[in-house]
Amino acid sequence: MNSWMAFLNKYGSSYLDGTLMTLKLSFLGVFFGFILGILIVLLRRSKLKPLQAIAKIYVQMFRGTPLLVQVTIFYYGFSSVLPDQYAALKNPFALSLIAVCMNSSAYVSEIIRGGINAVDRGQGEAAASLGMKKSQIMRYIILPQAIKTVLPALCNEFVTLIKETAIVSIVGVSDLMYQAKIAQGASYKPFMPNVTAALIYLILVTGLSKVISVFEKRLANSDSH
Ligand code: ARG
Repeated sequence: MNSWMAFLNKYGSSYLDGTLMTLKLSFLGVFFGFILGILIVLLRRSKLKPLQAIAKIYVQMFRGTPLLVQVTIFYYGFSSVLPDQYAALKNPFALSLIAVCMNSSAYVSEIIRGGINAVDRGQGEAAASLGMKKSQIMRYIILPQAIKTVLPALCNEFVTLIKETAIVSIVGVSDLMYQAKIAQGASYKPFMPNVTAALIYLILVTGLSKVISVFEKRLANSDSH
């Protein structure tokens, strides 16, 4: 216990920085993943077959390959082929964030697609009978209801990303896992640094899951009134 205290004294602030980085990456990941996810759903539901095909291939590609491989390709691949005017993008954080967002958007688009399918067909028909255009129906009637039903699943995606983003440590993003590796290298001890990271992940995930389940109950209650 004492040696753990001494360890935390020494590395506590790096773990805090790492935790903040993990939260930032995960939050931005779902946020932009959500926006991109909506676009993909719209492509997938478009009447034009080539657009549908692009959306399908995109989702298949990002869900069908490991995030580890995607992050590696984005970082090492793109930082060597991107022209110099995009120098600002050539850093581990930006390129990993792009990979995480694109990966997450593929999962989020499937979540939203499920939510859209769950909206009663009568809603769209009623809106059409009032003379609303298809795009208006999607924007004002279907999407708001679909997003409400999928909100808990979107929050779960955030929790998933907290764990999955540990992968970005391999390209040098200073997230929680990266800080654990640094502490491991500096102390020559593998156990305590990694157990500390595991505990922090566990606390984040458990805490957030509790918040989500309370939120989910409230949403369900608001539906029944
Ligand atoms: N571990 C899986 C992979 O490597 C899942 C990645 C991300 N999952 C997610 N819901 N965004 O591909």
